[in-house]
Amino acid sequence: MIEIKNISKTYTHHSEKVKIINNISISIEEGQWCTIVGPSGAGKSTFLNCVAGLLQPDEGEIIHEGIDIYSLKDKVKSEYRRLNIGFIFQDFKLLPYYSVLDNVALPLIYDEQKKSLYTKAKSLLEEVGIKEQMFNRLPEALSGGEKQRIAIARALIANPKVLICDEPTGNLDVNNRNIILDLLSKFKNSGKTIIMVTHDEEVANHGDKIYKLSNGILEERMKKNDSFNFESNNQ
Ligand SMILES: Nc1ncnc2c1ncn2[C@@H]1O[C@H](COP(=O)(O)OP(=O)(O)OP(=O)(O)O)[C@@H](O)[C@H]1O
Ligand SMILES: [Mg+2]
Repeated sequence: MIEIKNISKTYTHHSEKVKIINNISISIEEGQWCTIVGPSGAGKSTFLNCVAGLLQPDEGEIIHEGIDIYSLKDKVKSEYRRLNIGFIFQDFKLLPYYSVLDNVALPLIYDEQKKSLYTKAKSLLEEVGIKEQMFNRLPEALSGGEKQRIAIARALIANPKVLICDEPTGNLDVNNRNIILDLLSKFKNSGKTIIMVTHDEEVANHGDKIYKLSNGILEERMKKNDSFNFESNNQ
């Protein structure tokens, strides 16, 4: 279970303070798929970074399985994250001088024997539809959708308990989007937790719970049929 307790985050632009996250509290049960929608600039990526232990909120606590992650020393926190949380970044964050295969294997490079690790990395790449002839390419020689699928494979390599995804299907065509949704469903059905930001209404409906983030506040939204236009929500 992940407990998000009264978190707030303010950014300062030229001495003007903007409160992006305003006292948000939710609990996400183990095995739950939670989706978050909301207008561009609402703070969705900021919120995910806070939940993942990458960005400390100004106030409040993020508690993963009873541990307040920001109370951990940096090294311990990084280890916890590396082994328990898979993160798919909105801008992928693939390492430019590493091959596709090395990018996927990287999170476990010091933990596993190279042979079994690379076998696992190859099979994940195949699951996300990346062909063998791409394994040795550098990220610069890939399309946006290919990079995204490689970022997904990398997030899954350590078999994390929690997968945090920032627009994981944003660059994908319908076919590849469905491949990724099937993969995420499989992940969830094995008892894992998913926290996902998306602009895609159909993707959002895969969540057990759907939240909308706007004006710093997270509200639970009814599933399906409860259509409101979250894109045009004013800030
Ligand atoms: N490091 C930062 N310093 C200052 N302002 C920031 C920083 N990061 C984000 N912001 C601002 O905070 C707001 C929320 O950004 P965030 O990236 O969390 O939005 P988002 O909901 O993920 O948007 P999108 O849907 O476009 O990805 C934006 O107005 C952004 O300009
Ligand atoms: Mg974002």
